Amino acid sequence: MLLHLPEVLSPDEVRTLREQLDAVGWSSGQATAGAQAAQVKRNQQLDTAHPRFAELSGRMAAALRRHPLFVAAALPARLLAPMFNRYEGGEHYGDHIDNAVQTDRLSGQLLRTDVSTTVFLSDPQDYEGGELIASDHFGTHEVKLAAGDAILYPATSLHRVEPVTRGVRLAAFLWTQSLVRCPVQRGMLFDLDMSIVALRGELGERHPQVAALTGHYHRLLQQWAQP
Ligand code: NI
Repeated sequence: MLLHLPEVLSPDEVRTLREQLDAVGWSSGQATAGAQAAQVKRNQQLDTAHPRFAELSGRMAAALRRHPLFVAAALPARLLAPMFNRYEGGEHYGDHIDNAVQTDRLSGQLLRTDVSTTVFLSDPQDYEGGELIASDHFGTHEVKLAAGDAILYPATSLHRVEPVTRGVRLAAFLWTQSLVRCPVQRGMLFDLDMSIVALRGELGERHPQVAALTGHYHRLLQQWAQP
């Protein structure tokens, strides 16, 4: 499942973040590529050892944790510190699958990657190419969103970033270890949650069946969650 998260960051927040990222500067993405990824990765990244990385990354993580759709769909247990990348002048990232277990840049903690997220920080009209292409059981999807919007997709997806042939593409990206490891269970909880939210709007918070379904959601989460 791919899920579009609208307005993770406001236009003002995007502008401020971009200014601060450019002030820090960019280094080669090769530094953080594994052996397989190094063959196909051509981009720039914010140096995670830079003293300002923790603050910028933390602000990005906080914005996601505040987003109701992100929380409902990813059911985050732990977030790997969001990182930032930049593509220009034909840079791209060929087909690859992200590592299933990764070390957090800030805490050194090992996390299982269940859910991938890309937050777009450049407006689509400011660059040519740069689509995120992700494949799942339903086919191949092409994603290019407004600045501040994000896409959430399974961390097991084969994916790539198309060459950026004009302008600059900035993005934040991160992985989440979910409370619910199984994507089928996570998807069922998300669908149930969205139905409850819709019914609550129609029937009101205090309708007995809304309360009953909410209880059902939490019983399922209690069965499946592994904090
Ligand atoms: Ni990737």
